[in-house]
Amino acid sequence: MDYTKYSDIKFIEKGINELGVITESNRPYTRLVFSDEFYAGRDWLSSQFQMLGIQKSIDEAGNLIGIYKSLEKTEKIVIIGSHIDTVPSGGRYDGIAGIISALNVIKYFKNNKIELPFNLAIYDYLGEELNDWGISCLGSRGIAGLLNEEIFSRQDKTGRILGDEIDKIGGNTKLLKGQLSIVKNIIACLELHIEQGKILESDNTDIGIVRSIPTISRHTVKINGQAGHSGTLHMNQRADALVIASELILYINQFASKISRESNQHFVSTVGKINVEPNSASIIPGYVDFTIDLRAVSNQSRDIFLKQLTKKINDLDDKNNFKVSIQDISYAPYVEMDKKLQACFIKSCEDMGLSKKIMDSGAGHDTAQLARVCPAAMIFIPCKNGLSHCPEEFAEINDIAKGTSIITKMILDLANQD
Ligand code: GLV
Ligand code: MN
Ligand code: MN
Repeated sequence: MDYTKYSDIKFIEKGINELGVITESNRPYTRLVFSDEFYAGRDWLSSQFQMLGIQKSIDEAGNLIGIYKSLEKTEKIVIIGSHIDTVPSGGRYDGIAGIISALNVIKYFKNNKIELPFNLAIYDYLGEELNDWGISCLGSRGIAGLLNEEIFSRQDKTGRILGDEIDKIGGNTKLLKGQLSIVKNIIACLELHIEQGKILESDNTDIGIVRSIPTISRHTVKINGQAGHSGTLHMNQRADALVIASELILYINQFASKISRESNQHFVSTVGKINVEPNSASIIPGYVDFTIDLRAVSNQSRDIFLKQLTKKINDLDDKNNFKVSIQDISYAPYVEMDKKLQACFIKSCEDMGLSKKIMDSGAGHDTAQLARVCPAAMIFIPCKNGLSHCPEEFAEINDIAKGTSIITKMILDLANQD
């Protein structure tokens, strides 16, 4: 089977070029959720829905949806989704590749006038990336009933309340209680994503069929010391919050490396966001907070790590004029992708003559949230040098086309099984 018949390289290239470049101009590629650029990205996507002649809507969780309706009277639905938001100074493919690919899949069915026994929807899941409110995968968590009042009431540094932002974009947080009713009708929830690692490229493999997505949790550490003059206070007279933060950050890195080495399992921990106050060269830092991003396939390793880290933090607390604390801000458990859907992906790869590899994801994805409540699965395509969450992120259009063909074929197979 020739995969090029099931995707349109020119269409994908145009989509990546048009959506990928909607960015903060002085910080490519940045399209943060709820920013002007994000709204512009959604306008662009809505115009694509219009061109394809598919119906647009926004659900209670603020997900932007385009539906290719079945002519049969059915509530059953297959979702293909990803996200248009980016991290700060991110890339042009993370999330975007999946969105453009999904548009191409729907275009295939529309243009070829292929009727399906289920509705086929493209979802731009709201705010997949970690944001200043400390929570990723807003839209997919919303569908799965995993958001709550505490999360809605969070404020960012500029005072924006998360729930208000979700409502402003077209969601309805008052109705976001429990799973959305669509969940019971979902036959399959699919996503194409760049791998964001090096395995497929090194192995020269076309498609990664994802088996699992790790536990991802985020934690804030706060250190209160005492600000003071950097010239007058002797070294033994200080309560420098940044020094304590540095000690903890090194500990987090070294302890995670040890666990990863000794368990021989995926275990990573990163401190990538830090606030120092007052952040002046002539003032001893009086306050620091930082976020730990922790990902693990083993709950046992994760528990050991958090227990020992918390003990270290408690040992530092209330001594030598320091207050040190740790707080959990988000959690998503380890999930496995639906086995039947994985098998369908394998078959599609075999039918298309594309090479495949079953693999575990290191990154988090909206599909992980959906997998908690309905059949969900995803595929990876290679990306250059494994780089992602940076402007150098790159994927070959042809590789996106191969993945698109796999999803298209999979939907044809699902339709025939139905
Ligand atoms: C998603 O981009 C993640 O941080 O894994
Ligand atoms: Mn992504
Ligand atoms: Mn990402």
